[in-house]
Amino acid sequence: MTTEEILKEVAQQTAGCTRCDLHYSRNKSVPGTGNPRAEIMFIGEGPGFHENVQGLPFVGAAGQFLDELLADAGLKREEVFITNVVKCRPPGNRDPQAEELDACKPYLERQIAAINPDVIVTLGRFSMGHFFNNGKISGIHGKPFWSGGRMIIPMYHPAAALHQPSLREVVKQDFAKLPEMVARAQETRRSNPDLAALNNSLEEDNGPEDNNAEQLSLF
Ligand code: URA
Repeated sequence: MTTEEILKEVAQQTAGCTRCDLHYSRNKSVPGTGNPRAEIMFIGEGPGFHENVQGLPFVGAAGQFLDELLADAGLKREEVFITNVVKCRPPGNRDPQAEELDACKPYLERQIAAINPDVIVTLGRFSMGHFFNNGKISGIHGKPFWSGGRMIIPMYHPAAALHQPSLREVVKQDFAKLPEMVARAQETRRSNPDLAALNNSLEEDNGPEDNNAEQLSLF
């Protein structure tokens, strides 16, 4: 199957998915959108009110700020792929629950494998939690790690910066570093044919919180 076909199939599957209770209140599933050949994939938390209506990720206030952040990094939405850890809206925008995250995991993993991005930017703690069990965002935001042969960069969720103005500049600075990090990720992937070996920290027992992120980042 081509990447496009896989992404289409995932979108169709999420539209009819009943793997967790979120489908009861779903209007539209939000599988994600963007370039099937994206070098960077952004993974948020889950659809909010507007996303549930439109079936598209990050179309509300957090999405407007995300567009601004992408522009800071010289990126357009069409170039990247944007999705969430859960594809259906948690009622009232509550946190996604463990069983919902688990139920939705195969969709995200299929999308990642199909797109094969050089860099994944996690937006917020639930997305970060897909890759690291115990990272603290305040300590590791903007610092790259490697998992499954790609660079993972944890970032604050754009909505957090909207609620906490002191984070706004922090998030903007992290995004501004993205072009340089993508270039580094691509160079590392090019010069390491064994991508599976680019997995330098995350299987270790303690994960990034107990280690120095710079030491773990292979640079
Ligand atoms: N917040 C998210 O995490 N994802 C969206 O799609 C919208 C808001």
